Amino acid sequence: MADLSGRVALVTGAGSGIGKACAERLRSDGATVVTLDISGEVDHEIDVRSESEIEALVASILSAHGQLDIVVNAAGVAGGGPVHMVPLEEWDRVMSINLTGTFLVCKHAVAAMLQHKRGSVINIASVEGIEGTEGGSAYNASKAGVILLTKTMAIDYGIHGIRANAICPGGIDTPMLRQFIDAPGLEKYRDTMLDAHMLGRFGQPEEIAAVAAFLASDDASFVTGHALVADGGMTAGLRAGLFENF
Ligand SMILES: NC(=O)c1ccc[n+]([C@@H]2O[C@H](COP(=O)([O-])OP(=O)(O)OC[C@H]3O[C@@H](n4cnc5c(N)ncnc54)[C@H](O)[C@@H]3O)[C@@H](O)[C@H]2O)c1
Repeated sequence: MADLSGRVALVTGAGSGIGKACAERLRSDGATVVTLDISGEVDHEIDVRSESEIEALVASILSAHGQLDIVVNAAGVAGGGPVHMVPLEEWDRVMSINLTGTFLVCKHAVAAMLQHKRGSVINIASVEGIEGTEGGSAYNASKAGVILLTKTMAIDYGIHGIRANAICPGGIDTPMLRQFIDAPGLEKYRDTMLDAHMLGRFGQPEEIAAVAAFLASDDASFVTGHALVADGGMTAGLRAGLFENF
């Protein structure tokens, strides 16, 4: 458990999956947590693409709690395909939610954190922001953008007491992953993906929430500008079956 008592956190994408688990974990570690999603059981039904609503929400957090210490950007969508098949509207949808939405929340959250010269920004990127994957195009580009946005923030705000880190999950058992691994006809994809995780399983949202809690806490007081991989070994390298029998 991390000690987050006295901290105020904003979690986006908190209606489902990783964001929901992050909100629950930060709350159980003692933080006051404000949740946002476009849908679901959250405090605020807001689209991360709406700058005016995000600005107003951050102002309302400051007026209710006097501070904002932690932001977890977990709102996101899958999408893409081989580039010649991607309609511009699809590219714009993915980039606007995953990258621009993260930017907008960071923009207003960091302005609030600067008032107290303290804060931890945690952006949920992906291993697909580090390595290419088949048909990744828009999604992978958006997540690579999130990683460099995060690193740039670490540079700009470290001197002001604000840390910024990304988490790069592998396959995590949430509705986003299930739409692919449960889809009829995609059994080969599911098995290949599973095999790529050296732990032999997909992760649970709570395992990413534990990483977020660490990054939010003072235990990570010297950690900033990092893209922390939590992927069950997916990016460790190739396992081809040479030493299977022991
Ligand atoms: N599940 C995985 O395997 C995996 C792996 C790597 C990274 N990620 C990333 O983790 C984050 C969380 O994904 P998840 O797996 O929990 O998926 P999820 O679909 O369970 O949750 C995503 C949440 O984001 C919300 N959201 C979507 N568009 C929004 C918008 N415009 N404004 C506000 N909220 C919006 C959705 O309503 C949903 O509740 C995403 O950024 C995703 O890209 C997931």
